[in-house]
Amino acid sequence: MVVTQARVDLPSAEATRALGAALADVLAAGDLVILTGDLGAGKTTFTQGLGAALGVRGQVASPTFIVAREHPPGPRRDGSLGPGLVHVDAYRLGGLGELDALDLDASLEESVTVVEWGRGLAEALADDRLEIELVRPRGGDVDLEHPEAGVRHATLRGVGDRWAGVDLQALADAVAGGAERG
Ligand SMILES: Nc1ncnc2c1ncn2[C@@H]1O[C@H](COP(=O)(O)OP(=O)(O)O)[C@@H](O)[C@H]1O
Ligand SMILES: [Mg+2]
Repeated sequence: MVVTQARVDLPSAEATRALGAALADVLAAGDLVILTGDLGAGKTTFTQGLGAALGVRGQVASPTFIVAREHPPGPRRDGSLGPGLVHVDAYRLGGLGELDALDLDASLEESVTVVEWGRGLAEALADDRLEIELVRPRGGDVDLEHPEAGVRHATLRGVGDRWAGVDLQALADAVAGGAERG
C-alpha cells in the first residue's frame, strides 16, 4: 500500500482554514478525507476552509446532531464548478452500514467526503484516502479553556495509489509559508 506523509504547523485558526483551502486544489469528486483530532483540535475549521475554497453551497458547521450534511457544488473563485462536499460526523454513526443507509442524494462519487471522527470506521469506504490528524498540545502551560490556545499541527497521510503522485509536503510547506507571511 502506497503511503505519502507530510506535516505542517498550524499557528492559528486561519492556518487551519488555509490547509483546507489548499487541499481544495487537489481534492476531486470521489475523494475521501478522514479527520482525526480531539474536540477543539480544528476539524470543523479545516472543513470550513475546504468548503469555502471549493465554493460549495451552504454553511459548513459542526455536524453535531446531524450525521451528514450535503453541500451542493457552487462556483469556485475562478468561476469553475467543482465537486460537492459531504460532511459526516462519524461520532454519531454506529457503523459504515449506517452511512450507506443515509441514502445521500449526491453519491459519494460526485463529492469530496470529509468524515470527522472517521478513524477506524471510514477506511472501508475507499481504498484510497487522505487521513489528516489534527493535534492540539495539552499540558504544559496550554490553557485549554481558551479555544485558540496551543499551537496545533497536522499530519497528512495519503493512502493508496490515488495519493502516490501527490506532493503533500509541498502543499504543507505552501500553507506554512503563507502562515509565516501572515
Ligand atoms: N490552528 C489553530 N490555532 C488556534 N486555534 C484554532 C486552530 N484551529 C482551530 N482553532 C480554533 O479552535 C476552536 C475549535 O475548532 P473546531 O474546528 O470547532 O474543532 P473541532 O471540530 O475539531 O472540534 C475554534 O475556536 C477555532 O477557531
Ligand atoms: Mg467539529
